[in-house]
Amino acid sequence: MVKLTPPMGWNSWNTFGEKINEKLIMETADVMAESGLLKSGYDYLVIDDCWSLKERDKEGRLIPDPEKFPNGMKAVADYVHSKGLKFGMYSCAGNLTCAGYPGSYEHEFIDAETFAGWGVDFLKYDYCYHSPIVAGKYLYRRMGLALENCGRDILFSACSWGADETHEWIKESAASMWRSTGDIFDTWESVKKLIKQQEKLHPYNGVGCFNDMDMLIVGMYGKGNVGLKGCTDVQYKTHYSVWALLGSPLMIGCDIRNMNEETRKILMNRELIRINQDPLCRQPVKLTGIWSREDMVMYARMLSDGDIAIGLFNLSEEKGTGRFNLDELGLPMSTGKTLEMTEVWTGEEITAKNGTISRNLEPFDCEVFRARVVEQ
Ligand code: GLA
Repeated sequence: MVKLTPPMGWNSWNTFGEKINEKLIMETADVMAESGLLKSGYDYLVIDDCWSLKERDKEGRLIPDPEKFPNGMKAVADYVHSKGLKFGMYSCAGNLTCAGYPGSYEHEFIDAETFAGWGVDFLKYDYCYHSPIVAGKYLYRRMGLALENCGRDILFSACSWGADETHEWIKESAASMWRSTGDIFDTWESVKKLIKQQEKLHPYNGVGCFNDMDMLIVGMYGKGNVGLKGCTDVQYKTHYSVWALLGSPLMIGCDIRNMNEETRKILMNRELIRINQDPLCRQPVKLTGIWSREDMVMYARMLSDGDIAIGLFNLSEEKGTGRFNLDELGLPMSTGKTLEMTEVWTGEEITAKNGTISRNLEPFDCEVFRARVVEQ
């Protein structure tokens, strides 16, 4: 399976944990199709952990929990497909999944066959309870191979949290995305930690195998399975902006059946999605200059039409100024060029003067620009 832009969709884990069932999945599919999310690009609906019985059947096959999924998974997949969506499921490289359900270790080929039979289009593959003897790279290679041979195009979403130097070997497997961070929680501290944790891994993101910074917490407001304090709308906006700008997959984690207006606006920002889905998926540039501060992070990314996406993120609880020189982007004054920039949240237009950008930001706020190269 080749996926040329970061996958987008919804995943059950962040909000629902083990409280998943057919009704929830069908209602979510309806909302994805009707709310504009599907039109915006969110096309994968993924059921995470806790969907199966605790034991396999006599032939060694996984069985969906009949209380949660009384009509079986094929029926769920058919419903999801009928809405124009793709259907995702979850398993694990270990004996057990993280929540203690059967994992796919030593059942890789039979499970891949089962998923294909149900009409699955995406498999998230976790790393709990994995063998202490067989290295992760072999486990992911094995499931990758099983999926490539199961007779169906199934996107392989590796989830080994960046452990055991995942970045060094994950592209040897058939993975189209790989979790480059630990688990997200619905707090600002968690968002900040993942942003920092990600920086050393920027060089590994690229077309065909995307760094996955974990599912979005936008719109959860502390209500989810990974719900702690929750965040403010400004913090959700900044979290979303970083994930989008850095080219992470965008997997929604809130209950979209109850989205408020602000959540809709954040999740369906067209310009940010366009940046996220840019076909080049270039490595982000971390802007440092002489003004960088620990909690004022600035990233840019070259886009396929010659534009540049630029984000200024104030991660601190104090007001701050984001400032950098255009020479960091390859545009010193000597080129005779400058940037005309449009901010993706407000539509504000600015032109860079004297080779410098300097913007004041409220606590936790951000600005993301699409910038065009023009004559000075
Ligand atoms: C791990 C993963 C999470 C989620 C849970 C399910 O923690 O990183 O994203 O899938 O397992 O148990």
